[in-house]
Amino acid sequence: MMIRLGNNNDYDSYKEIRAECLPDFEILAGKKLLLKEEDLKLEFKQALSKRGVLLIALDGNKITGLLTGLMKSRSKACLTDILVKHAYRLKGCAEELMNAFEALMKGRNVTTLMLGVRINNKSAIQLYKKHGYKITNKDSHSYSMEKIL
Ligand SMILES: CC(C)(COP(=O)(O)OP(=O)(O)OC[C@H]1O[C@@H](n2cnc3c(N)ncnc32)[C@H](O)[C@@H]1OP(=O)(O)O)[C@@H](O)C(=O)NCCC(=O)NCCS
Repeated sequence: MMIRLGNNNDYDSYKEIRAECLPDFEILAGKKLLLKEEDLKLEFKQALSKRGVLLIALDGNKITGLLTGLMKSRSKACLTDILVKHAYRLKGCAEELMNAFEALMKGRNVTTLMLGVRINNKSAIQLYKKHGYKITNKDSHSYSMEKIL
């Protein structure tokens, strides 16, 4: 497994992984969700912007997962999404993406990492807790979590 920064050529893979993971989010939300091309393009553009982060996980030349993030201020960054293809789950791909994100953020002098996760997303919550994120807030559907670096 290897992790690299994303670039403009990754849009088709980004779209493919978002589409593959849509049913996961539909189960969590308990309803049909729409994946609009215009929204995907905006998200992708934001991830590649100056304030954004796009990390790509690879197995050989195959893309297995991705992580997106966003700088909220000089010292705070948000992990906005982490997605791993079904065939590559439970093999440590998300862990490697999380470690790479943390290292990148430390290099930018970020001191607080934040994220939001649905309360019923057990696997993601396990992952975040394992990486030292603590629940800081809760609303009807989701937790806010933070990690101080
Ligand atoms: C959550 C997700 C990213 C995990 O990816 P992954 O590559 O399979 O995770 P890893 O193999 O790196 O697992 C790391 C840790 O995460 C937790 N974890 C991952 N999958 C889990 C599962 N199905 N059940 C319970 N814990 C799980 C465990 O703590 C695991 O550590 P362990 O193996 O020592 O128990 C993946 O399941 C996914 O893409 N889900 C759909 C999208 C999603 O919900 N993203 C989060 C949005 S907030």
